[in-house]
Amino acid sequence: MIVQPNNHLGDSDDPRGHTKPISLIAAMDERRTIGLNNRLPWNTRWVYEFFENNINDNAVIVGRRTYEGKSIPVPAGKTVLISNTIKSTPRGLFTAMSPGTALAVAEKLPVQEIMVVGGQQTFEAFLDRARTIRLLIIHESAIGDRYFPKIDLRIFKLVSAERLTSGTARTSVIYARKH
Ligand SMILES: NC(=O)c1ccc[n+]([C@@H]2O[C@H](COP(=O)([O-])OP(=O)(O)OC[C@H]3O[C@@H](n4cnc5c(N)ncnc54)[C@H](OP(=O)(O)O)[C@@H]3O)[C@@H](O)[C@H]2O)c1
Repeated sequence: MIVQPNNHLGDSDDPRGHTKPISLIAAMDERRTIGLNNRLPWNTRWVYEFFENNINDNAVIVGRRTYEGKSIPVPAGKTVLISNTIKSTPRGLFTAMSPGTALAVAEKLPVQEIMVVGGQQTFEAFLDRARTIRLLIIHESAIGDRYFPKIDLRIFKLVSAERLTSGTARTSVIYARKH
């Protein structure tokens, strides 16, 4: 199946033969707060750079509300937007009506990995399929109305944690699926 930007695909679920690793990428406070009023609680360059560095030429899957909030980088030609309500596909993006279809589209792009960049509903939909979870944990409480899902430590293990000391205290951590 050849898919071009601006195609809006249907609602088939899990693609067969899915092989590319899936990562979830999020910035959150210690209570897992990720969003407020469809924006990030933090409007800082380092949060944006955290996403850019982790996306790093890979495919991106984003929920419709996060896309509309415009706080997360969505690279042209490599981003799949999940929506059943958007009227027309934004230029340079793909749209899909379900997580399974979004994955099928991302699988066909010439990338190594698939990066799921949120928000809450989208993270929840992909947690069971994620191989890694890359988090920027911000050690200051934020007010929010959206949260990253709880990470089950029977399923994921912490593989790295790097405390960043410049500016707001924060730690970059990576969890990997155990099996
Ligand atoms: N801190 C972070 O790392 C981070 C990252 C990203 C986003 N955020 C924040 O998270 C908040 C947005 O999260 P959210 O949960 O409200 O929305 P979201 O996940 O960004 O988008 C939800 C929309 O995406 C589509 N969608 C997502 N999952 C679907 C599924 N399983 N099946 C069908 N459609 C699905 C639906 O679009 P339709 O309604 O069009 O069908 C749904 O309404 C914002 O505040 C944003 O700033 C934070």
